[in-house]
Amino acid sequence: MASASSPPSKKQEKQDLGWMEWLKGWYDLIFEACFQKLMSRHLHNPLPLPSLNGKTCIVTGSTSGIGLEIARQLAESGAHVVMAVRNPVAANELIQKWQNRRTDSDPLNIDVMELDLLSLESVARFSESWNSRGKPLNVLINNAGIFSIGEPHKFSRDGYERHMQVAYQFIPFFLFTALEGSRSALFAATDPEILKYSEKLKSEEWPVCAYISYNCRPMNPSKEAHNVNTSHIVWEKTLEMVGLPSNIVETSMQ
Ligand SMILES: NC(=O)c1ccc[n+]([C@@H]2O[C@H](COP(=O)([O-])OP(=O)(O)OC[C@H]3O[C@@H](n4cnc5c(N)ncnc54)[C@H](OP(=O)(O)O)[C@@H]3O)[C@@H](O)[C@H]2O)c1
Repeated sequence: MASASSPPSKKQEKQDLGWMEWLKGWYDLIFEACFQKLMSRHLHNPLPLPSLNGKTCIVTGSTSGIGLEIARQLAESGAHVVMAVRNPVAANELIQKWQNRRTDSDPLNIDVMELDLLSLESVARFSESWNSRGKPLNVLINNAGIFSIGEPHKFSRDGYERHMQVAYQFIPFFLFTALEGSRSALFAATDPEILKYSEKLKSEEWPVCAYISYNCRPMNPSKEAHNVNTSHIVWEKTLEMVGLPSNIVETSMQ
């Protein structure tokens, strides 16, 4: 995302990240590069999913890669899937292909809705259109993103940096196929134990959210990621950047 502030000085950078954190970061990276396949060997490919009849799931960026796999597998397990994509033609072609491949008579329950996350106008249009349906949402998979290294800095029409990504680990890009990469998100979205795990977390000293690792096991991220004050700061900054009032949640829930 674009930032109006000037880059931090070397002194500030050093204060932000100590050598222990650097060491830990490199250790994690090397460990995952070497052992991620091994640590995931207990997982089936594709991951077996429970029946998802009656559940509605939105998957952003589902025209390729991990998002495509997630949308297809959720739908094949009985969910009503909404593909939130910036290329609806490609999404409809995919649905057609998946439907044609089916041997049983039940068609997949998939809709396509246009969403370009680099346009706030498109995001607002998507939200209004979704809200007007008045239907519950059971699962939201924020998958859409761009992972690029070495490209020049580019900005959207709204002035935000185009490079945005979500919390998949860095390494699967090289080690896992999209089918393998989809497993942790599918597990987090559908495993019945996740609700109990999240409830347990809320009552303990890690109150912010649950983290599921690439091998479909709960993991402990940094203390900062669980820090409620940091979460509030990030939330407020996000509202400021997208131009929403700080009481938006309270007012929209009335
Ligand atoms: N694969 C990895 O190991 C890895 C590593 C780090 C992070 N990630 C993150 O994991 C996510 C999926 O990765 P992937 O490898 O499956 O990527 P991918 O194959 O490039 O798919 C990305 C999807 O996001 C969509 N998208 C991009 N920008 C969008 C926007 N502004 N609005 C709406 N949709 C947008 C793309 O749509 P179009 O088809 O229209 O471009 C595409 O469907 C991404 O967020 C990526 O940054 C993946």
